[in-house]
Amino acid sequence: AEIIIVRDQAEAGSLAASIIIGKISSNPATVLGLATGSTPLSTYAAVAQAVRDHRIDVSGVRGFALDEYLGVPPQHPESYRSVITREVVEPLGLNPDQVFTPRGTGEHIGQAGAEYEALIAGAGGIDLQILGIGSNGHIAFNEPGSSLASPTRIKALAEQTRRDNARFFGNPDEVPTHCITQGLGTILRARQLVLLAFGANKAQAVAAALEGPVSSVVPGSVVQQHPHATVIIDEEAASTLA
Ligand code: F6R
Repeated sequence: AEIIIVRDQAEAGSLAASIIIGKISSNPATVLGLATGSTPLSTYAAVAQAVRDHRIDVSGVRGFALDEYLGVPPQHPESYRSVITREVVEPLGLNPDQVFTPRGTGEHIGQAGAEYEALIAGAGGIDLQILGIGSNGHIAFNEPGSSLASPTRIKALAEQTRRDNARFFGNPDEVPTHCITQGLGTILRARQLVLLAFGANKAQAVAAALEGPVSSVVPGSVVQQHPHATVIIDEEAASTLA
């Protein structure tokens, strides 16, 4: 992977946004893979600014979220459907019917992963996948121990992840125990990856993912196997790189 160390989240956001903007300019029907969480917010804000400045036309852009909480209905304010609507669809003015999240509720939930894989394949695959990384090395919600070839499926959230995400729920006990997430295989099929990470809390995970062995123990290490991955991190997140 190409590793770019930047000063701060704003600089990372402009850089990642310029990659997204370039893609959309050359292909107005770009299929974006969308991470939720705090990390990509400066990126989405910079793309939203480009849209307001009429520098890109996103009317043909499609999007696929990485993951969703299991058992959390889409209208819940902390469902990733709601988060993607608030943080991406509305600010960028994307067509909400062209932005998808895995379904975390409804009948035959065991089939939701295969349904999502079929939707992604039907869209022609993901052109550009935006990724964050968990403090335990997860990408999407592929927790340590995830198969490197995994498809979208239901997974248990690690206790560390539930603690990290307790800030979004009133009470740590309210954080869902399970999720439905794109797999490491799904992510590796995206044609380009942009992984972002900020802060000292991510330094160990970043070093393990970029410099350790490719292993299901550190799911983020799969970026090493991708032929077109860009990693954009701040100095704190880069602080334990060799
Ligand atoms: C979000 C996701 C997660 C986050 C990761 C980092 O869709 O799949 O892998 O990217 O947990 O979260 P933040 O950015 O909140 O530190």
